[in-house]
Amino acid sequence: MTRRRKKPEELRSHRWYGVPDLRAFGHRSRTAQMGFDRRDYAGKPVIAIVNTWSDINPCHTHFRQRAEEVKRGVWQAGGFPVELPAQSLSEPIQKPTTMMYRNFLAMEAEELLRSHPIDGAVLMGGCDKTTPALIMGALSMGLPAIFVPAGPMLRGNWRGETLGSGSDIWKYWDQLRAGAIDREALNEIEDGIARSPGHCMTMGTASTMTSVAETLGLTLAGAASIPAADSNHARMAANSGRRIVDMVWEDLKPADILTQASFENAIAVTAALGGSTNAVVHIVAMAGRAGVEITLERFDEIAASVPTLANIRPSGAYLMEDFYYAGGLRGLLSRLAGTLHLGCLTVAGTTLAEAVNGAEVYDDDVIRPLDNPVYPAGGLAVLRGNLCPDGAVIKPTAADPKFLDHTGPAVVFDDYNDMAARIDDDALDVDASSVLVLRNAGPEGGPGMPEWGMLPIPKKLLKAGVKDMVRISDARMSGTSYGTCVLHVAPESFIGGPLALVRDGDPIRLDVAACRLELLVEDAELARRKAQWEAPKPRFERGYGRLFTQHVTQADRGCDFDFLEAGPPTPDPEIH
Ligand code: FES
Repeated sequence: MTRRRKKPEELRSHRWYGVPDLRAFGHRSRTAQMGFDRRDYAGKPVIAIVNTWSDINPCHTHFRQRAEEVKRGVWQAGGFPVELPAQSLSEPIQKPTTMMYRNFLAMEAEELLRSHPIDGAVLMGGCDKTTPALIMGALSMGLPAIFVPAGPMLRGNWRGETLGSGSDIWKYWDQLRAGAIDREALNEIEDGIARSPGHCMTMGTASTMTSVAETLGLTLAGAASIPAADSNHARMAANSGRRIVDMVWEDLKPADILTQASFENAIAVTAALGGSTNAVVHIVAMAGRAGVEITLERFDEIAASVPTLANIRPSGAYLMEDFYYAGGLRGLLSRLAGTLHLGCLTVAGTTLAEAVNGAEVYDDDVIRPLDNPVYPAGGLAVLRGNLCPDGAVIKPTAADPKFLDHTGPAVVFDDYNDMAARIDDDALDVDASSVLVLRNAGPEGGPGMPEWGMLPIPKKLLKAGVKDMVRISDARMSGTSYGTCVLHVAPESFIGGPLALVRDGDPIRLDVAACRLELLVEDAELARRKAQWEAPKPRFERGYGRLFTQHVTQADRGCDFDFLEAGPPTPDPEIH
């Protein structure tokens, strides 16, 4: 479909630069102060490069250079690039969790675009929450936008072993606790596991969410799988800069691209990737900004029929670098073509079918064919029951199958500090059949729903060879984690959800095939406990923490702020 092209005087930036009034005098004279001539910007789309680079985000160290490559593309296509720094959300460094700041970055991106003379945006993200945050902000602002994913880092290496972000940390940390390796070995692993720019190279939240962004049609075809250190990545950045200029002239906005069908594609691809459970929260939140309702049940329905094809850790054996060489996301999409809505639009102005056209798979062990999947179907399951009336999620592909139908006595930890203090105590009354419960780790209780959901196996059981147990919490877990971890229990315990009522020794039943999670305690007893329950004090009395805890929604609604969910558009600033 050919779209009508805008005229220069229809550009949003025309109100800042193109009118003969006093305020515009100020805008032009101050742009001249920065060394730009009128010919640099007059009548051209002003393109914001929203850059989440910082000195303390290791996943985005190449973004300074990539921003220059984006600018090159914007200049070549006849646009005027302006780089706008936004907070970096450094997953491995920030406390208590970057999830507490996802909505903050979403607001920042939205308001950066609104308050400046911007016609279109290049969104540079990749480290976990940056991808959904930037997309949420751009959606709410409603300007043409294209996403430039950071790309995964190269494979880690230690004494000839391939190391994967997160997944191998948990593995070798447990080996250290069990006495199988020493400190010196762990120090070498520390130095070998992250050896290039780029985001985590397992199928963690970053790889899942950048693949979701591409599936949604918000990147150029093939962009999400390119390793950050590959020169193809630099060329993709420049191409994205070229493309956004045309998107402005065509007035092609995220709302034109994102539909119920494109979000359903994203869910199917998450399942086929063996993707992070965090995608559930982020997809619900992004869909909410697009005015599309995605229920937890829809995840379950779609995932139930989609096999896991990507043989990537933690569900599989390989890493993102292998995935790229095997054909990348386009290869995987080509294998899933029968289940996808291929008519969905992309930033290229063409359909997903055209993005996938010609894609091949070069290694059938890395991207499995439909008749030889890593996991047959149901790689993501949504649970209901008296312990999680508003839902919980589990990733069966990362669990020991024997625990997918299990009943065991609860061992309850009131919060993370309680868990950290007692988990390795030899006196802890726990055995391999116990169900570990962590509460007060949800959106308000954490706060920010930290990635504490993969509770450690108690040391005495580790030494006895136990590698997995059933664990239940209102927390999230890193996409690089594994184990039989029931996550995102809603409503959370901090606001009086049923997790708050569990006591040591209570039997808990998990039945993934039936999608059930039940606390096997009489209703009358639960009602009695509920009547005795006292709400904890609010976590924050002031500041952003107060805003966050007063307005964050529960996991089943995506943990967006209630006042940022879809609603009437925010007015654009007037001329003056
Ligand atoms: Fe940035 Fe994992 S730490 S993506």
